[in-house]
Amino acid sequence: MSDRYLNLVNSGMGKTVASRLGLPRPEVLRRYHVGDPLLPGPLLLGGSGAPVLAGLAGVLKAAGVDVRDADAADAAEARWAGLVYDATDANEIRDLAVLRDFFAGALRRLGPSGRVIVLGRSPEGSDPVVDATRQALDGIVRSLGKELRAGATANLVLIEGDASPESALRFLLSGRSAYVDGQLIRVGGGAAPADPVRPLDGKIALVTGAARGIGSAIADVLARDGAHVIVADLPAAGEGLARVANRIGGTTLQLDIARPEAPATLLSHLGERHGGVDIVVHNAGITRDRLLANMKPEQWDSVLAVNLEAQLRINTVLLGSTVLHDGARVVCLASTSGIAGNRGQTNYAASKAGIIGMVRSYASAFARREATINAIAPGFIDTDMTHAMPFATREVARRLNSLQQAGLPVDVAEAVAWLASPSAGGINGQVLRVCGQNLVGA
Ligand code: NAI
Repeated sequence: MSDRYLNLVNSGMGKTVASRLGLPRPEVLRRYHVGDPLLPGPLLLGGSGAPVLAGLAGVLKAAGVDVRDADAADAAEARWAGLVYDATDANEIRDLAVLRDFFAGALRRLGPSGRVIVLGRSPEGSDPVVDATRQALDGIVRSLGKELRAGATANLVLIEGDASPESALRFLLSGRSAYVDGQLIRVGGGAAPADPVRPLDGKIALVTGAARGIGSAIADVLARDGAHVIVADLPAAGEGLARVANRIGGTTLQLDIARPEAPATLLSHLGERHGGVDIVVHNAGITRDRLLANMKPEQWDSVLAVNLEAQLRINTVLLGSTVLHDGARVVCLASTSGIAGNRGQTNYAASKAGIIGMVRSYASAFARREATINAIAPGFIDTDMTHAMPFATREVARRLNSLQQAGLPVDVAEAVAWLASPSAGGINGQVLRVCGQNLVGA
């Protein structure tokens, strides 16, 4: 479904009218296409975190990025595609002023869909000054995200120990992270992608609820990145499912994930037909919205059964089986409703908040198998689900984020594919919002 307002204010006449009237002018976001460079222009790299910074310039240059520092001859005139600041050794309040100086000089020359990334460390609870300084980075980045315009985003990467931020940086700098804004990602390990163009080559992936919407976009992106994708959905959605499988050269599995026998059916199908699975994306989900006072038991039960209980049962069975390969990646669809709550969605928000609790709880058991489990929490994404909303509510909801537009299913799919990739092994038990920095909630 196209965003008519976004198209209008980006047309010649519409642009002029919108700027005269002071109307919001959402940018057409830079999205990834195979063959694109990581960044479409130069990147300004600065900071005080000497050990991380030393390796960073080399890593980024090797990835094809035109890296400059503030002393470069043409730094004052450059139009930046990205600004990366290493604050991993910021331990005192005055270190924050150095960061301010870096950004104050460069932000005015950040181009459309520009990227601002700050690297930091987590507060550790040992020294109040150090912890206050580290936590301050979070406030700076979230505020910056709200100040940036023209499709630019700001995100914070917290590095644990000597973990490499390369995988997170590649994702955040690229067009794959178009709708990821105002986020904090903790990196506890990970590696450089063996093949950045087809990082999932040779992997077997399962996507539930893949007959349409976000699930079918996830199937597309996982296949584009090299995986063989098994697309699963209800028998009633068989036609759409076959269309998706044909498009991507994948295989279908008709399965109601909420049925009691679903985990066993899934296990034998994956084991016998495919020799196991490397990537599982729990995407199938339903809504049955009602105010709690009016909610019928079956509306409550069905949402909890499909969105949460089915995933819990399937994950437990997979974790205990060699059908789930060591080093596997499980990605679960949560929602910003599960973080901020939403009127009429106590059942849905319970299920999606439950997903967040579930991935946090499973993380250490998955880590013992060198596997990871994470959640993606989409904000307002243009799909059949959101198309069903009344026109005025939908138009308002679309603009209530820093990027002033809805995300597309592909934006969620790109984030899923990144967390599903081997290089994202240092990210576990986390929730990544793909919401354009939704103004509602955390
Ligand atoms: P959708 O309604 O377009 O697609 C969901 C798919 O799941 C459908 O193909 C449906 O047949 C399948 N499904 C439902 N029950 C199933 C079951 N018992 N077994 C197997 N398959 C089943 O939904 P959409 O918008 O693509 O959402 C996908 C996921 O993203 C859901 O988990 C949803 O809660 C989540 N999400 C969506 C947002 C949005 O703005 N569209 C926002 C936040 C989260």
